[in-house]
Amino acid sequence: MQIANTIDAVREQLSQWRQRRQTIAFVPTMGNLHDGHLQLVKQARGLAEKVVVSIFVNPLQFGEGEDFATYPRTLADDSDKLANEGVDLLFAPELAEIYPGGLDIATRVTVPGLSDILCGASRPGHFAGVATIVNKLFNIVQSDTAIFGEKDYQQLAVIKRMVADLAIPMEVIGAAIVREPSGLAMSSRNAYLTEEERQTAPLLYRCLSQACDRIIASESDYPAICEEFTNYLNKNGFNVEYFEIRRQGDLEIPGLDDTSLVILVAARLGSTRLIDNIQLSLAGESAR
Ligand code: PAF
Repeated sequence: MQIANTIDAVREQLSQWRQRRQTIAFVPTMGNLHDGHLQLVKQARGLAEKVVVSIFVNPLQFGEGEDFATYPRTLADDSDKLANEGVDLLFAPELAEIYPGGLDIATRVTVPGLSDILCGASRPGHFAGVATIVNKLFNIVQSDTAIFGEKDYQQLAVIKRMVADLAIPMEVIGAAIVREPSGLAMSSRNAYLTEEERQTAPLLYRCLSQACDRIIASESDYPAICEEFTNYLNKNGFNVEYFEIRRQGDLEIPGLDDTSLVILVAARLGSTRLIDNIQLSLAGESAR
């Protein structure tokens, strides 16, 4: 596996592959890789001849008081894992390579509306930070496809919208959530959980699953379902930010005719903010 720290080095390698007409799949990450990330890499392998992974903890998407400084940085370990997965190129730039003039950059990519609801409501500027770095990474790598985990459902929706609106010539693919045996969605932030919190955390997915079952069984008072699970989680150690049933894709409030739904939750457990979601189709099987 090649490791590139500069934009020029990535461009040089990528232009050679493109000249040979080799297809390229890209997996952007912030490192501290777990099985969920490695699943994205495996999927990328199946999609293209060359796989590029980036590791960059992007300060632009962290708010004040968030965990940018403490976000786990494990480059040596990550690099071994990616080499084992047969990744062709790892792009691991320093901060100054991506933001040479500092973080006060003039140009930002924003996706208003979709970025202001759910996670965006409590994390102002977060999705602009994500869209800006992802756009920049897309311009650097210029792959045929890019793969993102569906755990960050809203992030995926924002990126798909940006790619459509700006006609970025790339296919964005969502990969299914990878869960621990307990049902807890894999996340780098799970490392922050205490032993006791780890016992409680799987309740999040159990609630999503139960809400999903009830909707499939034709319960249609969505606000009541959401309120019930919010209260239940709050009584059981969580501090719920939102528990919502939305339309897939644009995350609007579903109308009576909408059959492709996603139930999303964000909740704090101690000092750790956890998110999860479950997609369901009323016309067919749930995506679980
Ligand atoms: O999901 C992530 O790890 C990050 O938000 C991403 C997409 C790599 C952008 O920094």
